Amino acid sequence: MSDHARVAYAAVSDTLAGATALPRAAFADPQVFAAEQAGVFRAGWIPVARESDLAEAGAYRSVDIGGAPLVVTRDAAGEIHVLSRICRHRGMPVVEGSGVAKALTCPYHLWRYGLDGKLAAAPAMERSEVFDREDCDLPAIATARWNGWIFANIDGKAPPLEPQIAPLTARVAAFAPQAMVTVDTISLESPWNWKLMVENFMESYHHIGPHIGSLQQSNPGLGTYESDGADLFTILENPPAEGDHHGFVVAAIFPTTLLFFSEGTPLGTWYELDSIEHGRFRLNIHLLASPDLAAIPEFVAGFRAQALAIHDEDIPVCEGAQKGVTSPLYIPGPLSHLEASVWRLHRFLKMSFEA
Ligand code: FES
Ligand SMILES: [Fe+2]
Repeated sequence: MSDHARVAYAAVSDTLAGATALPRAAFADPQVFAAEQAGVFRAGWIPVARESDLAEAGAYRSVDIGGAPLVVTRDAAGEIHVLSRICRHRGMPVVEGSGVAKALTCPYHLWRYGLDGKLAAAPAMERSEVFDREDCDLPAIATARWNGWIFANIDGKAPPLEPQIAPLTARVAAFAPQAMVTVDTISLESPWNWKLMVENFMESYHHIGPHIGSLQQSNPGLGTYESDGADLFTILENPPAEGDHHGFVVAAIFPTTLLFFSEGTPLGTWYELDSIEHGRFRLNIHLLASPDLAAIPEFVAGFRAQALAIHDEDIPVCEGAQKGVTSPLYIPGPLSHLEASVWRLHRFLKMSFEA
C-alpha cells in the first residue's frame, strides 16, 4: 500500500519553480488512499474539537479519523479525553454525534464507560473466565492543545506538535484564536478527494476565477504570497485591495487543519475534514468569533451567509477538478509561484512516505 503512495509522490519537486500538480494515482488509486489513512491521518496531528465546544462536564463529540472512530469528552473533573469509541465487547461504537452524558453506554449490550474511558459496568459477565474489568477501558489517544483546538494523534508516534509550528503560532497570536468561540457550523457532504480541498483552501490564485466578483475585489489573487512554511505548516497572506478592505490570512497544519483569520474583524473559520473517504469527506465549516461578536445574531447570520457564498463559489471547481484529475486524460500541469502552499502539501505527502 505504502509503495503505491511512495510512487505517487516520488516525483514531487524539491523546488517550487519545478513543481507540478499531483499525478492521477494520488486521487484515483484506492491503495494510495489506504496508505494515507495510516501514513497521514493516523500518523498525523488532527484537530478533533474546540475546547470551548466541550465547555460542560459530560460533553462529548464523535469524530472519524483515518478509519478510526473517536470520541472527545470532558469528564466531571473537567479533564479532556480523546478515546477510541469502539466498544471493548463486540465492537459497536458506544456513541455517535455529540451531546452531554454522565457516561458512555454502548447501545448493544449496555456496557457502560466513564467519560475517561474506564469501564464502569458490564452486565452478566461474571461467568466469563477471560473478562477482566480492569482491562476493558476505551483506549486513550495521544492529544495536544493549540490555540483552543484539541488535536489527536492516533498512532501515538507523531513528534510534539508545537515545536513544529512555532512560526504559525507567532503569526496567529494577534488574532487571539484561543479566545474565539464557535458561533455556527455549516456541514456539507463534499464529493471530492481531500487533497483538492486543502489545495483549494491554500491558494488564492483562483480568486481571479470563481471568486472574481467577491474575494478578487477585496483581496486580489495575484497579490497573495506564502509568508512562511515548513514541513508541517504553510501561511498564505492575502493583502487587501485599495479602499475599504481588510487583509486575511489562511494557514494549514498538514494534513488537514485549515484556518482563516481576518485582519479587520475578530473572526476566523476552521475547515474541518471529517469522515474522509477516497473520493469524499464531510466538510464542517466552523465559524469562530470573539464572544462579543458571537452574542450579536445579525453578525452571526451575516457571517454564515458570507462563508456559504464563498464556499458555493468553490464547490464547482472542486467537483470539476475531481472529475478531471481522476480521468484517463488528465496530465498534471506546472504550478504557479502563487501556489507555494500547494507545493508545500505535496512535499509533506512525499516526506510522509519516504522510508
Ligand atoms: S458491543 Fe458494546 S456492549 Fe456489546
Ligand atoms: Fe476559493
